[in-house]
Amino acid sequence: MNQIQPFTLPGDSTMMQKDFLFGVATASFQIEGDYQHRQPCIWDTFCSIPGNIADGSDGKTACDHVNRWKQDVALIASLGVDVYRLSISWGRVINEDGSLNRRGMDFYIALLDELNRHHIKVFVTLYHWDLPQHLEDKGGWQNRETAFAFADYSRLVIQELGDRAYAYSTLNEPFCSAFLGYEVGIHAPGHKSRKKGRVAAHHLLLAHGLAMAEIRRHAPKALAGIVLNFSPAYAFTSSDADIKAARLAHEYHNLWYLMPLMEGRYPDIINSLSEAERPEILAGDMDIIKINMDYLGINYYTRNVYQAGGELGFEDVRIDNVPRTAMDWEICPGAFTELLKDLSQEFNLPPIYITENGAAEDDALLNGEVHDPMRLDYLQSHLLAVHHAIENGVDVKGYFAWSLMDNFEWAEGYRKRFGLVYVDYTTQQRTLKSSAKAYQGMLAYRQALSQK
Ligand code: NOJ
Repeated sequence: MNQIQPFTLPGDSTMMQKDFLFGVATASFQIEGDYQHRQPCIWDTFCSIPGNIADGSDGKTACDHVNRWKQDVALIASLGVDVYRLSISWGRVINEDGSLNRRGMDFYIALLDELNRHHIKVFVTLYHWDLPQHLEDKGGWQNRETAFAFADYSRLVIQELGDRAYAYSTLNEPFCSAFLGYEVGIHAPGHKSRKKGRVAAHHLLLAHGLAMAEIRRHAPKALAGIVLNFSPAYAFTSSDADIKAARLAHEYHNLWYLMPLMEGRYPDIINSLSEAERPEILAGDMDIIKINMDYLGINYYTRNVYQAGGELGFEDVRIDNVPRTAMDWEICPGAFTELLKDLSQEFNLPPIYITENGAAEDDALLNGEVHDPMRLDYLQSHLLAVHHAIENGVDVKGYFAWSLMDNFEWAEGYRKRFGLVYVDYTTQQRTLKSSAKAYQGMLAYRQALSQK
């Protein structure tokens, strides 16, 4: 195959400077496997129910990362990235009685030590959706106590890992945990109730605030923040009704999570929910949630389009004739730049890390190579989108591609591949795709620039 062209950014771009952090990201349930040595989580249960996962698969083996972590770290190092973003499996490090699972904790300690030995900074996510099932049995994120259990778990992890982590993120995408998991039921634990979704969101945000305090206390040198996903909401037409619908969708799906963190309140759309559907907010909750953060992690994949209608005043519209990824998500890098600019204008944000961005493609291994032209275009255009946002004054400090390697894509199972590295699930062999080589090439060029 021809030499792969590296991704390119203007030579004077902030992103080409040494202190801008490039990385790759994964999450525990999606790659680890080795389920025998951890507590079952809500995703194990969800996967066991026929029909929930598109290919009927589960996370029992995944990428077998727990047994292959050393070679995976070498793979990460070979890309030339500054950062690896991973998540801790709650049920691997904490037993059902709340005590520490030494074996599980030692796995992460060894992993972080090895990454640090390679001078790779580690962004540790404390919760990437794998709630222990025994906590779900007591109500999961419906139960306010789960927020306190999360703070206890976080404290134990932070005391053990300490400054081995460069940064901690309390939660990854609480929108998905709350809305997809408790409100529409397409993710674990599969509940379908608006009330449950809103209650889960509140307890997740409370858990975030409580865990932030633990990070501050026990790893004062590490950065502390959260990772939120944003799918910017666009109006289908320029009618006032559609513009209003897009704003409502933005409030319900995006600002529901950001506004409490920044301003200590839920967006106005909360007032259009019936009393019975609103979460119970106890005195002091919003102050806990509003705790100052060192950074905001932003995950961006696509935008959504809305028109007036539906119970809450907005409904999705699928537009035709636009480029889409294998997830059927519209490819829209311009919306990424606008999102970053708009959020920075509307809120007094801390510095931003792009903690995820990437695309699923129907990759195939041919003669030992995986060529992924759509992902190449996607990543190139989205890197430029971040560059444009920075040029417009947005304070972005890093960009992490999702994902290091193909993995368990939740309700889609293993059929949707997001990796820069291809995984053959029968042999567990890893193969760099063209996009990995283009990323590697750009990072090598940046490294050479910094040595001039
Ligand atoms: C967001 C999630 O954090 C990650 O787990 C998932 O695989 C990607 N988006 C792609 O859907």
